[in-house]
Order: sequence, then structure tokens, then C-alpha cells
Amino acid sequence: KRVVVFISGGGSNMLALVKAASEPGFPAEIVAVISDKADAGGLAKAAPLGIATFAFVRKDFESKQAHEAAILTELDRLSPDIICLAGYMRLLSATFINAYEGRIINIHPSLLPLFPGLHTHQRAIDAGMTEAGCTVHFVTEGMDEGPVILQAKVPVLPGDTSEDLAARVLVEEHKSYPQALRLLAEGKVRMVDGKVVVADIQ
Ligand code: GRF
Repeated sequence: KRVVVFISGGGSNMLALVKAASEPGFPAEIVAVISDKADAGGLAKAAPLGIATFAFVRKDFESKQAHEAAILTELDRLSPDIICLAGYMRLLSATFINAYEGRIINIHPSLLPLFPGLHTHQRAIDAGMTEAGCTVHFVTEGMDEGPVILQAKVPVLPGDTSEDLAARVLVEEHKSYPQALRLLAEGKVRMVDGKVVVADIQ
């Protein structure tokens, strides 16, 4: 399966996907990395690996629609089977999502439906949670609310700062995202009528 990864920042999750996809037998290849930031650190990490990189800078376009249209045109050329959002800090329109229905996944650093949105680790600490984690889910129109594919849990330890917790969760993100991509690429999970359907295990 052909995969395009969307980033806005450092791209550590993108790199985890690239590394996993380079293993023999992995059912997907990362064919390109797209960012909305020309200076996204992940672009500089992907390029030396021979992966096509593209920056579509929002301010270069007169509207969100024009920005997305430019990305969709490039995607028509890249022909991805799957799009992985990995630290992509922009909401996709319904038009965009519908163009790739059931084929866009995202990793979010909380145990959804708890703590959608930003600053998830500080919010979990402030709420006195004893566990936190990450979620890989299908992308739907609402933010961070699509059906869940995989979750991984970590303990919240006394005295944890948000940085401590973020680092602990990130380790799990780098394991969970490749696992979820494998399941989707192998057809073991898919989204039907907004729900995750698991193929009967052979
Ligand atoms: C991670 O916490 C990820 O869950 C969130 O953005 C953070 C940085 O991701 N989406 P990355 O290092 O850019 O992949």
C-alpha cells in the first residue's frame, strides 16, 4: 500500500512509520511526506532517506480551500492508498476527508475520547489521571473523534511534568502507529459506516 504522511513539526512519528515500513514484508511504503510548514523538521529528516517531500504553506494560499486543493492535486499524482496524519496541526475539511473516506488515520497523544485537542498531557496531570496514553484513530470531520483503531496506556507517575509524560507516551506512539498502519494496510481493520470493523482473524 502507498502511504503519504502529513506533518507540521519534528516528525518523530513519521520517522517511526518510515522505519517500520522499511522492514521486509511490511505491507506499506511511505511514498511522500507533506507538511504545511516549509521549515518542519520532519522534512529535513525524510529527504535524506529518499522520500519525496512537499511543503504547502498555508499563507501562500488565499483560502483554506485553495490550500487543500493544491494538496489534493499533488495527492492525485502520488495516488496514496492511505494518509497518515502525524503531528499535523491543521483540521482537514469534510471535502478532503470524504475524498479519502476510511483511508486517513491520525495519532493523538491521549486515551480518546479523553482529552481531545491540545495540551493533552498537562490536562491529564491536572485531572489527576493515573494513566494516560495515545490513540490511533480514523479521521472523520470532527477533531479527534473518529473511530479508534489502537490505544496504548502508560502510567502517570507522581511528580510527572507534562514533558515527562509526553516522553513516556511518545515511546508508545512510535510503537502503536506502525502497528495500526500495518492492520489497515493488511485490511485487518477498516471503517464501515463510521465504525471500525475487524476482519475475522484467519
Ligand atoms: C506527538 O505527541 C503526537 O502525538 C502529536 O504531536 C506530537 C509530536 O509528534 N500529534 P511528531 O514528533 O511531530 O511526530
